[in-house]
Amino acid sequence: MTKWGLIGCLGAVIFLNACTKEIESVNTAEFASGTPYRLEVPPGFPKPVIPANNPMTVEGVALGRRLFYDNLLSANNTMSCASCHLQNNAFTDPRRFSVGIDSIAGRRNAMPLFNLAWDRHFFWDGGSTNLESQAIDPIVNPIELHQPLTEMLAKLNAHPEYPALFQKAFGSSTIQTAMVAKAIAQFERSIISADSKYDRYLRGEESLTEQEQQGLQLYLDVDKGDCFHCHTMNGLFTDYEFRNTGLDSVYADDGRASITLNPDDVGKFKTPSLRNIALTAPYMHDGRFNTLMECVEHYNSGFNNHPNLDPNISTKERGRMTQAEMEAIVAFLNTLTDYSLIQNPNFSAP
Ligand code: HEC
Ligand code: HEC
Repeated sequence: MTKWGLIGCLGAVIFLNACTKEIESVNTAEFASGTPYRLEVPPGFPKPVIPANNPMTVEGVALGRRLFYDNLLSANNTMSCASCHLQNNAFTDPRRFSVGIDSIAGRRNAMPLFNLAWDRHFFWDGGSTNLESQAIDPIVNPIELHQPLTEMLAKLNAHPEYPALFQKAFGSSTIQTAMVAKAIAQFERSIISADSKYDRYLRGEESLTEQEQQGLQLYLDVDKGDCFHCHTMNGLFTDYEFRNTGLDSVYADDGRASITLNPDDVGKFKTPSLRNIALTAPYMHDGRFNTLMECVEHYNSGFNNHPNLDPNISTKERGRMTQAEMEAIVAFLNTLTDYSLIQNPNFSAP
Protein backbone atom coordinates (compact mmCIF):
# COMPACT_ATOMS: atom_id res chain seq x y z
CA MET A 1 0.00 0.00 0.00
CA THR A 2 1.24 3.49 -0.79
CA LYS A 3 2.17 5.99 1.88
CA TRP A 4 -0.69 8.29 0.91
CA GLY A 5 -3.01 5.35 0.75
CA LEU A 6 -2.03 4.38 4.26
CA ILE A 7 -2.55 7.92 5.54
CA GLY A 8 -5.92 7.94 3.79
CA CYS A 9 -6.99 4.69 5.50
CA LEU A 10 -5.74 5.67 8.93
CA GLY A 11 -7.41 9.03 8.51
CA ALA A 12 -10.68 7.36 7.67
CA VAL A 13 -10.48 4.88 10.54
CA ILE A 14 -9.04 6.95 13.39
CA PHE A 15 -10.35 10.41 12.62
CA LEU A 16 -13.54 9.21 11.04
CA ASN A 17 -15.55 12.39 11.57
CA ALA A 18 -12.94 14.94 10.61
CA CYS A 19 -11.79 12.87 7.70
CA THR A 20 -15.24 12.10 6.35
CA LYS A 21 -16.06 15.79 6.48
CA GLU A 22 -12.97 16.68 4.49
CA ILE A 23 -13.69 14.06 1.87
CA GLU A 24 -17.29 15.20 1.63
CA SER A 25 -16.18 18.68 0.67
CA VAL A 26 -14.72 17.41 -2.60
CA ASN A 27 -16.01 13.90 -2.91
CA THR A 28 -19.76 13.71 -2.47
CA ALA A 29 -20.99 10.63 -4.27
CA GLU A 30 -21.82 7.20 -2.94
CA PHE A 31 -18.83 4.88 -2.82
CA ALA A 32 -19.55 1.73 -4.77
CA SER A 33 -16.53 0.09 -3.26
CA GLY A 34 -13.23 0.93 -1.61
CA THR A 35 -11.86 3.32 0.99
CA PRO A 36 -12.51 7.05 0.49
CA TYR A 37 -9.31 8.78 -0.68
CA ARG A 38 -8.34 11.95 1.09
CA LEU A 39 -7.47 14.57 -1.52
CA GLU A 40 -5.46 17.32 0.16
CA VAL A 41 -6.43 20.70 -1.27
CA PRO A 42 -3.38 22.98 -0.98
CA PRO A 43 -3.92 26.35 0.71
CA GLY A 44 -4.87 29.08 -1.77
CA PHE A 45 -6.10 26.62 -4.40
CA PRO A 46 -9.70 26.75 -5.59
CA LYS A 47 -11.99 23.83 -4.82
CA PRO A 48 -11.48 20.95 -7.24
CA VAL A 49 -14.41 19.32 -8.97
CA ILE A 50 -14.51 15.55 -8.58
CA PRO A 51 -17.22 14.03 -10.79
CA ALA A 52 -20.02 12.49 -8.74
CA ASN A 53 -19.80 9.25 -10.71
CA ASN A 54 -16.11 8.73 -9.97
CA PRO A 55 -15.34 9.41 -6.31
CA MET A 56 -11.69 8.79 -5.48
CA THR A 57 -10.79 5.74 -3.42
CA VAL A 58 -7.47 4.47 -2.12
CA GLU A 59 -7.94 1.32 -4.18
CA GLY A 60 -8.98 3.21 -7.33
CA VAL A 61 -5.97 5.55 -7.18
CA ALA A 62 -3.57 2.61 -6.63
CA LEU A 63 -5.11 0.71 -9.54
CA GLY A 64 -4.92 3.77 -11.79
CA ARG A 65 -1.26 4.20 -10.93
CA ARG A 66 -0.56 0.60 -11.88
CA LEU A 67 -2.42 0.97 -15.19
CA PHE A 68 -0.65 4.26 -15.95
CA TYR A 69 2.70 2.46 -15.79
CA ASP A 70 1.62 -0.82 -17.43
CA ASN A 71 2.88 -1.62 -20.96
CA LEU A 72 -0.09 -3.94 -21.30
CA LEU A 73 -2.11 -0.90 -22.35
CA SER A 74 -0.24 -0.83 -25.69
CA ALA A 75 -0.95 -3.24 -28.55
CA ASN A 76 2.58 -4.71 -28.52
CA ASN A 77 3.18 -4.44 -24.76
CA THR A 78 6.08 -2.00 -25.12
CA MET A 79 4.68 1.36 -23.98
CA SER A 80 2.55 2.89 -21.28
CA CYS A 81 1.26 6.36 -20.45
CA ALA A 82 4.55 6.89 -18.60
CA SER A 83 6.54 6.44 -21.84
CA CYS A 84 5.50 9.96 -22.82
CA HIS A 85 4.60 11.35 -19.38
CA LEU A 86 7.82 11.03 -17.34
CA GLN A 87 7.79 11.80 -13.62
CA ASN A 88 11.26 13.38 -13.83
CA ASN A 89 9.82 15.94 -16.25
CA ALA A 90 6.67 16.71 -14.26
CA PHE A 91 4.98 13.98 -16.31
CA THR A 92 5.71 15.39 -19.74
CA ASP A 93 8.01 14.21 -22.53
CA PRO A 94 11.42 15.85 -22.99
CA ARG A 95 11.21 15.01 -26.71
CA ARG A 96 9.73 17.69 -28.96
CA PHE A 97 7.27 15.21 -30.43
CA SER A 98 6.43 11.95 -28.68
CA VAL A 99 6.55 8.74 -30.66
CA GLY A 100 3.95 5.97 -30.28
CA ILE A 101 4.34 2.20 -30.67
CA ASP A 102 4.39 2.41 -34.48
CA SER A 103 7.19 5.02 -34.40
CA ILE A 104 4.83 7.71 -35.70
CA ALA A 105 5.35 11.15 -34.18
CA GLY A 106 2.48 13.50 -33.41
CA ARG A 107 2.59 17.23 -34.15
CA ARG A 108 2.14 18.48 -30.60
CA ASN A 109 4.38 18.50 -27.55
CA ALA A 110 3.16 16.23 -24.72
CA MET A 111 1.59 18.01 -21.77
CA PRO A 112 2.64 17.74 -18.13
CA LEU A 113 0.21 15.96 -15.79
CA PHE A 114 -0.42 17.52 -12.38
CA ASN A 115 -3.23 19.47 -10.71
CA LEU A 116 -5.63 17.99 -13.27
CA ALA A 117 -8.39 17.85 -10.64
CA TRP A 118 -8.83 21.59 -11.28
CA ASP A 119 -8.83 21.45 -15.05
CA ARG A 120 -11.95 21.54 -17.24
CA HIS A 121 -10.48 21.10 -20.74
CA PHE A 122 -7.84 18.64 -21.80
CA PHE A 123 -5.35 18.70 -24.69
CA TRP A 124 -3.86 21.86 -26.20
CA ASP A 125 -7.11 22.51 -28.06
CA GLY A 126 -9.42 21.48 -25.20
CA GLY A 127 -10.75 18.66 -27.38
CA SER A 128 -11.66 16.61 -24.30
CA THR A 129 -13.75 17.94 -21.42
CA ASN A 130 -13.66 14.82 -19.32
CA LEU A 131 -10.57 13.29 -17.73
CA GLU A 132 -12.20 9.86 -17.67
CA SER A 133 -12.88 9.70 -21.40
CA GLN A 134 -9.56 11.44 -22.10
CA ALA A 135 -7.71 8.44 -20.65
CA ILE A 136 -9.11 6.17 -23.36
CA ASP A 137 -7.87 8.34 -26.23
CA PRO A 138 -4.13 7.52 -25.96
CA ILE A 139 -4.89 3.80 -25.57
CA VAL A 140 -6.65 3.57 -28.93
CA ASN A 141 -4.89 6.46 -30.70
CA PRO A 142 -2.91 5.10 -33.71
CA ILE A 143 0.06 7.37 -32.97
CA GLU A 144 0.15 6.43 -29.29
CA LEU A 145 -0.61 3.03 -27.69
CA HIS A 146 -2.75 1.92 -30.66
CA GLN A 147 -4.67 -0.87 -28.96
CA PRO A 148 -8.32 -1.77 -29.66
CA LEU A 149 -10.34 -1.71 -26.43
CA THR A 150 -11.56 -5.29 -26.90
CA GLU A 151 -7.92 -6.45 -26.86
CA MET A 152 -7.12 -4.35 -23.80
CA LEU A 153 -10.10 -5.82 -21.94
CA ALA A 154 -9.18 -9.36 -22.99
CA LYS A 155 -5.63 -8.89 -21.63
CA LEU A 156 -6.80 -7.31 -18.38
CA ASN A 157 -9.54 -9.88 -17.75
CA ALA A 158 -7.08 -12.76 -18.36
CA HIS A 159 -4.45 -11.19 -16.08
CA PRO A 160 -3.57 -13.02 -12.82
CA GLU A 161 -3.97 -9.88 -10.64
CA TYR A 162 -6.09 -7.22 -12.32
CA PRO A 163 -9.58 -8.78 -11.86
CA ALA A 164 -9.11 -8.82 -8.06
CA LEU A 165 -7.80 -5.23 -8.07
CA PHE A 166 -10.85 -4.03 -10.05
CA GLN A 167 -13.08 -5.96 -7.66
CA LYS A 168 -11.59 -4.00 -4.75
CA ALA A 169 -11.81 -0.64 -6.51
CA PHE A 170 -15.14 -0.93 -8.31
CA GLY A 171 -16.93 -3.94 -6.81
CA SER A 172 -16.73 -6.05 -9.97
CA SER A 173 -14.04 -8.36 -11.31
CA THR A 174 -15.44 -8.20 -14.84
CA ILE A 175 -13.30 -5.39 -16.19
CA GLN A 176 -14.97 -2.78 -18.40
CA THR A 177 -13.48 0.15 -20.29
CA ALA A 178 -15.22 2.71 -18.07
CA MET A 179 -13.55 1.20 -15.00
CA VAL A 180 -10.10 1.51 -16.62
CA ALA A 181 -10.84 5.14 -17.49
CA LYS A 182 -12.09 5.91 -13.98
CA ALA A 183 -9.06 4.35 -12.27
CA ILE A 184 -6.57 6.22 -14.45
CA ALA A 185 -8.45 9.50 -13.90
CA GLN A 186 -8.40 8.92 -10.13
CA PHE A 187 -4.62 8.45 -10.17
CA GLU A 188 -4.19 11.55 -12.34
CA ARG A 189 -6.28 13.63 -9.92
CA SER A 190 -4.10 12.45 -7.03
CA ILE A 191 -1.01 14.05 -8.65
CA ILE A 192 -0.97 17.40 -6.90
CA SER A 193 1.90 19.86 -7.13
CA ALA A 194 2.03 22.65 -4.56
CA ASP A 195 5.46 22.60 -2.94
CA SER A 196 7.78 24.85 -4.93
CA LYS A 197 10.15 27.43 -3.49
CA TYR A 198 7.50 30.05 -4.33
CA ASP A 199 4.87 28.13 -2.30
CA ARG A 200 7.27 27.97 0.62
CA TYR A 201 7.90 31.71 0.19
CA LEU A 202 4.14 32.32 0.37
CA ARG A 203 3.98 30.21 3.52
CA GLY A 204 6.79 32.28 5.05
CA GLU A 205 9.19 29.34 5.12
CA GLU A 206 11.74 30.56 2.59
CA SER A 207 12.70 33.88 1.05
CA LEU A 208 13.22 34.82 -2.58
CA THR A 209 16.52 36.26 -3.78
CA GLU A 210 16.53 39.88 -4.92
CA GLN A 211 16.49 38.76 -8.59
CA GLU A 212 13.58 36.32 -8.04
CA GLN A 213 11.67 39.04 -6.21
CA GLN A 214 12.26 41.44 -9.10
CA GLY A 215 11.10 38.73 -11.53
CA LEU A 216 7.87 38.32 -9.56
CA GLN A 217 7.23 42.06 -9.73
CA LEU A 218 7.87 42.13 -13.49
CA TYR A 219 5.56 39.11 -13.92
CA LEU A 220 2.82 41.20 -12.26
CA ASP A 221 3.70 44.52 -13.93
CA VAL A 222 1.20 45.30 -16.75
CA ASP A 223 3.77 47.46 -18.54
CA LYS A 224 6.51 44.82 -18.40
CA GLY A 225 5.92 41.04 -18.22
CA ASP A 226 2.17 41.09 -17.61
CA CYS A 227 2.18 37.30 -17.40
CA PHE A 228 -0.45 37.03 -14.66
CA HIS A 229 -3.49 37.85 -16.81
CA CYS A 230 -3.20 34.40 -18.38
CA HIS A 231 -0.83 32.47 -16.08
CA THR A 232 -2.99 33.45 -13.10
CA MET A 233 -1.81 33.74 -9.49
CA ASN A 234 -4.51 31.31 -8.34
CA GLY A 235 -2.12 28.62 -7.15
CA LEU A 236 -2.48 26.95 -10.54
CA PHE A 237 -0.69 29.52 -12.74
CA THR A 238 -3.24 29.24 -15.53
CA ASP A 239 -6.63 30.75 -16.33
CA TYR A 240 -7.58 27.56 -18.25
CA GLU A 241 -8.64 29.74 -21.18
CA PHE A 242 -7.62 29.46 -24.85
CA ARG A 243 -5.41 32.28 -26.08
CA ASN A 244 -3.57 33.29 -29.22
CA THR A 245 -0.07 34.38 -28.22
CA GLY A 246 1.14 35.34 -31.70
CA LEU A 247 3.51 32.41 -32.14
CA ASP A 248 2.75 32.51 -35.90
CA SER A 249 1.08 34.85 -38.35
CA VAL A 250 -0.27 31.77 -40.17
CA TYR A 251 -0.85 28.73 -37.96
CA ALA A 252 -0.06 25.20 -39.20
CA ASP A 253 -2.15 23.89 -36.28
CA ASP A 254 -5.49 25.68 -35.82
CA GLY A 255 -5.59 24.87 -32.10
CA ARG A 256 -8.93 25.61 -30.45
CA ALA A 257 -10.56 26.27 -33.85
CA SER A 258 -10.05 22.63 -34.84
CA ILE A 259 -12.64 21.82 -32.13
CA THR A 260 -14.99 24.81 -32.33
CA LEU A 261 -14.59 25.45 -36.10
CA ASN A 262 -14.83 29.15 -35.22
CA PRO A 263 -12.33 31.30 -37.16
CA ASP A 264 -11.99 33.55 -34.09
CA ASP A 265 -10.35 30.58 -32.32
CA VAL A 266 -7.59 29.98 -34.87
CA GLY A 267 -4.19 29.89 -33.14
CA LYS A 268 -5.69 29.74 -29.65
CA PHE A 269 -4.25 27.09 -27.33
CA LYS A 270 -4.89 26.21 -23.70
CA THR A 271 -2.87 28.39 -21.34
CA PRO A 272 -0.44 25.95 -19.70
CA SER A 273 0.42 26.14 -16.02
CA LEU A 274 3.83 27.64 -15.32
CA ARG A 275 4.34 25.38 -12.32
CA ASN A 276 7.36 23.10 -12.86
CA ILE A 277 8.11 24.96 -16.07
CA ALA A 278 11.87 24.47 -15.60
CA LEU A 279 11.28 20.71 -15.89
CA THR A 280 9.06 20.62 -18.97
CA ALA A 281 11.16 21.83 -21.94
CA PRO A 282 10.69 22.04 -24.88
CA TYR A 283 7.96 24.69 -24.80
CA MET A 284 4.71 25.68 -26.54
CA HIS A 285 2.16 23.39 -28.21
CA ASP A 286 4.69 22.36 -30.83
CA GLY A 287 7.76 22.39 -28.59
CA ARG A 288 9.41 25.10 -30.71
CA PHE A 289 11.38 26.75 -27.88
CA ASN A 290 14.08 25.00 -25.88
CA THR A 291 14.68 27.54 -23.14
CA LEU A 292 12.64 29.75 -20.85
CA MET A 293 14.60 32.74 -22.10
CA GLU A 294 13.29 32.09 -25.65
CA CYS A 295 9.74 32.05 -24.22
CA VAL A 296 10.17 35.37 -22.41
CA GLU A 297 11.86 36.86 -25.49
CA HIS A 298 8.78 35.83 -27.51
CA TYR A 299 6.52 37.94 -25.28
CA ASN A 300 9.03 40.79 -25.19
CA SER A 301 9.50 41.20 -28.94
CA GLY A 302 9.03 37.94 -30.85
CA PHE A 303 5.24 37.82 -31.07
CA ASN A 304 3.61 37.99 -34.52
CA ASN A 305 0.57 39.98 -35.49
CA HIS A 306 -2.54 37.89 -35.95
CA PRO A 307 -6.23 38.88 -36.07
CA ASN A 308 -6.82 36.74 -32.95
CA LEU A 309 -3.73 37.90 -31.04
CA ASP A 310 -4.71 38.38 -27.40
CA PRO A 311 -5.08 42.05 -26.36
CA ASN A 312 -2.87 41.37 -23.34
CA ILE A 313 -0.04 40.92 -25.87
CA SER A 314 -1.06 43.03 -28.91
CA THR A 315 -1.19 46.24 -26.84
CA LYS A 316 2.38 45.83 -25.63
CA GLU A 317 5.39 47.72 -26.82
CA ARG A 318 8.00 45.46 -28.43
CA GLY A 319 11.34 45.29 -26.67
CA ARG A 320 9.91 46.81 -23.48
CA MET A 321 12.08 44.68 -21.21
CA THR A 322 15.86 44.75 -20.77
CA GLN A 323 17.97 41.57 -20.82
CA ALA A 324 18.34 41.80 -17.02
CA GLU A 325 14.57 42.10 -16.60
CA MET A 326 13.95 39.03 -18.75
CA GLU A 327 16.58 37.13 -16.76
CA ALA A 328 14.77 38.11 -13.57
CA ILE A 329 11.49 36.70 -14.92
CA VAL A 330 13.28 33.43 -15.75
CA ALA A 331 14.73 33.38 -12.21
CA PHE A 332 11.20 33.75 -10.83
CA LEU A 333 9.88 30.98 -13.13
CA ASN A 334 12.61 28.73 -11.73
CA THR A 335 11.13 29.15 -8.22
CA LEU A 336 8.00 27.33 -9.41
CA THR A 337 9.71 23.93 -9.52
CA ASP A 338 8.29 21.35 -7.12
CA TYR A 339 10.96 18.72 -6.51
CA SER A 340 8.64 16.75 -4.23
CA LEU A 341 6.45 16.06 -7.30
CA ILE A 342 9.25 14.34 -9.17
CA GLN A 343 10.52 12.49 -6.09
CA ASN A 344 7.19 11.41 -4.60
CA PRO A 345 7.21 7.57 -4.56
CA ASN A 346 3.38 7.55 -4.64
CA PHE A 347 3.51 8.84 -8.19
CA SER A 348 6.31 6.60 -9.47
CA ALA A 349 6.13 3.16 -11.09
CA PRO A 350 4.61 0.71 -8.58
C1 HEC B 1 3.00 8.58 -27.50
C2 HEC B 1 3.05 9.52 -26.39
C3 HEC B 1 1.90 9.56 -25.41
C4 HEC B 1 1.36 8.51 -24.70
C5 HEC B 1 1.74 7.04 -24.77
C6 HEC B 1 0.35 9.09 -23.83
N1 HEC B 1 0.29 10.45 -24.00
FE1 HEC B 1 -0.88 11.75 -22.99
N2 HEC B 1 -0.32 13.26 -24.21
C7 HEC B 1 0.59 13.13 -25.24
C8 HEC B 1 0.54 14.32 -26.08
C9 HEC B 1 1.39 14.58 -27.32
C10 HEC B 1 -0.44 15.18 -25.52
C11 HEC B 1 -0.95 16.50 -26.10
C12 HEC B 1 -1.93 16.11 -27.21
C13 HEC B 1 -2.74 17.23 -27.81
O1 HEC B 1 -2.91 18.29 -27.21
O2 HEC B 1 -3.24 17.03 -28.91
C14 HEC B 1 -0.95 14.46 -24.33
C15 HEC B 1 -1.91 15.00 -23.47
C16 HEC B 1 -2.42 14.31 -22.37
C17 HEC B 1 -3.36 14.87 -21.42
C18 HEC B 1 -3.93 16.27 -21.42
C19 HEC B 1 -3.33 17.11 -20.30
C20 HEC B 1 -3.84 18.52 -20.25
O3 HEC B 1 -3.32 19.30 -19.43
O4 HEC B 1 -4.75 18.89 -21.02
C21 HEC B 1 -3.62 13.89 -20.49
C22 HEC B 1 -4.54 13.98 -19.27
C23 HEC B 1 -2.86 12.71 -20.89
N3 HEC B 1 -2.13 13.01 -22.03
C24 HEC B 1 -2.91 11.49 -20.23
C25 HEC B 1 -2.39 10.31 -20.77
C26 HEC B 1 -2.71 8.97 -20.27
C27 HEC B 1 -3.61 8.68 -19.09
C28 HEC B 1 -2.03 8.09 -21.05
C29 HEC B 1 -2.08 6.57 -20.99
C30 HEC B 1 -3.40 5.95 -21.10
C31 HEC B 1 -1.28 8.88 -22.02
N4 HEC B 1 -1.54 10.21 -21.84
C32 HEC B 1 -0.42 8.35 -22.97
C33 HEC B 1 1.43 12.07 -25.46
C34 HEC B 1 1.20 10.78 -24.97
C1 HEC C 1 -2.53 36.24 -23.49
C2 HEC C 1 -2.27 35.23 -22.49
C3 HEC C 1 -0.82 35.01 -22.10
C4 HEC C 1 0.10 35.92 -21.62
C5 HEC C 1 -0.09 37.41 -21.40
C6 HEC C 1 1.30 35.18 -21.34
N1 HEC C 1 1.12 33.85 -21.66
FE1 HEC C 1 2.52 32.41 -21.60
N2 HEC C 1 1.29 31.14 -22.58
C7 HEC C 1 -0.02 31.41 -22.95
C8 HEC C 1 -0.51 30.37 -23.83
C9 HEC C 1 -1.90 30.27 -24.44
C10 HEC C 1 0.57 29.48 -24.02
C11 HEC C 1 0.59 28.27 -24.96
C12 HEC C 1 0.80 28.83 -26.36
C13 HEC C 1 0.96 27.79 -27.44
O1 HEC C 1 1.63 26.78 -27.25
O2 HEC C 1 0.43 28.02 -28.55
C14 HEC C 1 1.66 29.97 -23.19
C15 HEC C 1 2.89 29.34 -23.06
C16 HEC C 1 3.90 29.78 -22.21
C17 HEC C 1 5.09 29.03 -21.90
C18 HEC C 1 5.40 27.60 -22.39
C19 HEC C 1 4.64 26.62 -21.52
C20 HEC C 1 4.72 25.19 -21.94
O3 HEC C 1 4.32 24.32 -21.14
O4 HEC C 1 5.17 24.88 -23.05
C21 HEC C 1 5.84 29.78 -21.04
C22 HEC C 1 7.16 29.41 -20.40
C23 HEC C 1 5.12 31.03 -20.83
N3 HEC C 1 3.94 30.98 -21.57
C24 HEC C 1 5.54 32.05 -20.01
C25 HEC C 1 4.94 33.30 -19.99
C26 HEC C 1 5.54 34.47 -19.40
C27 HEC C 1 6.86 34.47 -18.65
C28 HEC C 1 4.69 35.52 -19.64
C29 HEC C 1 4.90 36.96 -19.31
C30 HEC C 1 6.12 37.54 -19.85
C31 HEC C 1 3.55 34.98 -20.37
N4 HEC C 1 3.74 33.65 -20.57
C32 HEC C 1 2.45 35.72 -20.80
C33 HEC C 1 -0.73 32.53 -22.56
C34 HEC C 1 -0.16 33.71 -22.13
